[in-house]
Amino acid sequence: MEADKLMGAEATVSKASYLGREAAVKSRPPKSYRLPELDRRIRTARTRSEARIMREAREAGVRTPCIYDIDLKECSITMEYVEGITAREAIDRNPEDAEKLAAEIGRTAAKLHSAGICHGDLTTSNMIVRPDGTLCLIDFSMGRTKAALEDIGIDARLMERAFGSAHAGLEKALDTLMASYLSSMPDGDAVRKKLEEIRNRGRYT
Ligand SMILES: Nc1ncnc2c1ncn2[C@@H]1O[C@H](COP(=O)(O)OP(=O)(O)OP(=O)(O)O)[C@@H](O)[C@H]1O
Ligand SMILES: [Mg+2]
Repeated sequence: MEADKLMGAEATVSKASYLGREAAVKSRPPKSYRLPELDRRIRTARTRSEARIMREAREAGVRTPCIYDIDLKECSITMEYVEGITAREAIDRNPEDAEKLAAEIGRTAAKLHSAGICHGDLTTSNMIVRPDGTLCLIDFSMGRTKAALEDIGIDARLMERAFGSAHAGLEKALDTLMASYLSSMPDGDAVRKKLEEIRNRGRYT
């Protein structure tokens, strides 16, 4: 039932149908450069962890695709197909709307982080803007739960750097993103300090 392939590095994502609904199937094919036994363990662990974190994020009120099925043998997750375009494309197409979207990205990241969840790859390519304008987070393969302040600070710093390099020239939107993020974090001051410390670390190493 596979159709057009969407993209993928470690994983491949294809559009399919599941019980009559449009679905996205994310699978992790075997990697021949890894020992087979180790490869299987890595793929299974990543599939399981991605699905678990996605579920936890959803429970914390962050929009993520609904999971329909997990196949630990094939190492694949079948999930709701989210209509829309990535936030990266949305910003490239309409830079004048970047600030509004940036504010929403900041609020979404704060909601995730305040539930102790790190995404691991908070780039605008891992966010889908639905036709109604709502933001959906995807690709939790590098995520973690029970995150400490340090993990959260690193996740926020990655988001800041990724936005800065993917959307060079949109400094005002980046400021809006970070301001929205910090003001939506319950412990905004502690995160602000941690973020500053991490930025400085990068400066001297
Ligand atoms: N549920 C979904 N609905 C619609 N499109 C999706 C969905 N999940 C993924 N995609 C599309 O597939 C692309 C790749 O998905 P994803 O970011 O999860 O994989 P990846 O970056 O290749 O994975 P990984 O970082 O785990 O190796 C996304 O940028 C998006 O365009
Ligand atoms: Mg991705």
